[in-house]
Amino acid sequence: MGNMFASSGILVLGVLLVSAIGGQSESIPCKLIDAKHGKVCVCTADYCDYLENPVLTDENEWFLISSSKQGLRFSTTSDKFGKEEKFTVQDYVEPTQETANATILSRLFDKVVASAFTLESRESSITRTVTLRLDRSKTHQKMVGFGGSYTGAVEYLVENFKRSELADLYKSFYAEDGLGFNLMRVSIGGCDFDLEPWSYAEEEGDTVLSDMDELNAHDVTRVAQIKRLIEVSGVKNLLVKGAAWSPPPWMKTNNRWTGFGRLKRAYYQTWADYHLRWLRLMEDNGIPIWAISTGNEPMNGILFMYFVKFMSLGWTPQTQAIWLNDHLGPTIRNSEFKDIILFGNDDQRYTFPHWFKMMNRTRPNSIDYLDGLSVHWYWDEIFGNSFIEQTTEYAPDKILIVSESCIGDKPWQAAAPLLGSWERAEKYARDYLLNIKLGFHGWIDWNICLDEIGGPNYVDNTVDAPVIVNTTTFEEFYKQPMFYAIGHFSKLVPEGSVRIDAVPSNVNLDSVAFLRPDNKIAAVLFNSGRADLDITLVDSIRGQFVVNVPAKSIHTLLYS
Ligand SMILES: *[C@@H]1O[C@H](CO)[C@@H](O)[C@H](O)[C@H]1NC(C)=O
Ligand SMILES: *[C@@H]1O[C@H](CO)[C@@H](O)[C@H](O)[C@H]1NC(C)=O
Ligand SMILES: *[C@@H]1O[C@H](CO)[C@@H](O)[C@H](O)[C@H]1NC(C)=O
Repeated sequence: MGNMFASSGILVLGVLLVSAIGGQSESIPCKLIDAKHGKVCVCTADYCDYLENPVLTDENEWFLISSSKQGLRFSTTSDKFGKEEKFTVQDYVEPTQETANATILSRLFDKVVASAFTLESRESSITRTVTLRLDRSKTHQKMVGFGGSYTGAVEYLVENFKRSELADLYKSFYAEDGLGFNLMRVSIGGCDFDLEPWSYAEEEGDTVLSDMDELNAHDVTRVAQIKRLIEVSGVKNLLVKGAAWSPPPWMKTNNRWTGFGRLKRAYYQTWADYHLRWLRLMEDNGIPIWAISTGNEPMNGILFMYFVKFMSLGWTPQTQAIWLNDHLGPTIRNSEFKDIILFGNDDQRYTFPHWFKMMNRTRPNSIDYLDGLSVHWYWDEIFGNSFIEQTTEYAPDKILIVSESCIGDKPWQAAAPLLGSWERAEKYARDYLLNIKLGFHGWIDWNICLDEIGGPNYVDNTVDAPVIVNTTTFEEFYKQPMFYAIGHFSKLVPEGSVRIDAVPSNVNLDSVAFLRPDNKIAAVLFNSGRADLDITLVDSIRGQFVVNVPAKSIHTLLYS
């Protein structure tokens, strides 16, 4: 084992050396720093970590990307199927005092030496085992992709950054050597992560929506930023999903942005027209829209006092069925945007499947207008999988997307970023695995970045995000462990990948696997245990190999 490690250490070193000389598209390791709750990767004016996608050179080769609580962040190793000895993924080792000032190269040497010494202590701890069987002949859903949300809060942070643009932020999420995101959620008008509530057509009684030929001042900067993001990241097929939080108050029963307000019957068609006009407006301004939903969290305007400060519009399934069936549905389907994907619900899973059943009861077949159903993850741990399973039974063939996720929304969670929290990364990994196994086709996280307190926004609603911007200097940002957790799913699982069977022999490992459009296999391997784990990976075609992964680690495996 010692020998094998030494060779893999030298291999890593070699790869880094080659890429350092290689120029333009090189992999750059995370600059790891200690934060209050763990470790984060810092990106500064002249430094940000990237990982080029692996290129497999022969059909027996496998490639592993690893992150761990201890401090691995997208570190890479590779070897071949069919080897007898097990391959060990070395966990991160703290550099010693003297090496803190050393060059990257000498630091790496020290790391190699240090990890050779820690091997002994690892051998004395209990190693668990698991066998994971991947079967590419057993196929499930085809993935649409992964992404994050570009809110008014994100726009504000990007706008205030000292560097003229945040190319590294954009590339970190949307470039191929970043997380490879292809989905994005934006609000139609304002949302709770804006600096003030706003919408188009705010002037009382403006039923012809007279200002919707031009971008609202709130959208001018955001649209320019998103276009820049597309340009610098090189994202090939960005799929943008829109959702409205609230119409202008005059269209609502309570004449307010927030609270218990519904759409006035007189404006059902106006609100459908508003959506159509927004689609045209975005397309005219260079951001073609892939999908819209019937509105963000309709229950907020009906049920929950807790959300009373948020921009919201209350719907019951009955009223939403009428609006969708008699107004929005026909308006969209009879327009040049007839092929837009329409998502229903856009709320928590406890509304499933009741919401759709009630809609269909009110307007028979109204749910046929919906191509997809979107869910927010916030109550996944409380309301079981049956809510989703009953829905896919009732309405099969719908695209299932998690359209919002973040941590800090619950009274029992710190309503703020916890810099470096690996526990939060694990919560992400667990729920991604859970929902992908339930048949979800994609996932859109909430704000791609926030400030140190988890804002800004006009309702003082503060939560965590995968990237936290330093607003003291506006010169650097921090990639949270969550960023890498999401990346272990998004980076090597492109649009069009098909989930295949991945069956672990016990609960020591959680996993999902995919057959990609290029016929390669990508698998996510999650060891949430406190011990390291020997994984015997068995592929129905390639054979097998054994890899030992550290405690509290998550990996993405790629092979042909
Ligand atoms: C690193 O270098 C700086 C400047 O030369 C010095 O002040 C500091 O003590 C060094 N730190 C360590 C850990 O050697
Ligand atoms: C919706 O309602 C119609 C008419 O009652 C019924 O024929 C159809 O089966 C329902 N759809 C679903 C998915 O239950
Ligand atoms: C932001 O930068 C300032 C100045 O360098 C520093 O004092 C502060 O600790 C940084 N904030 C965080 C969250 O690291």
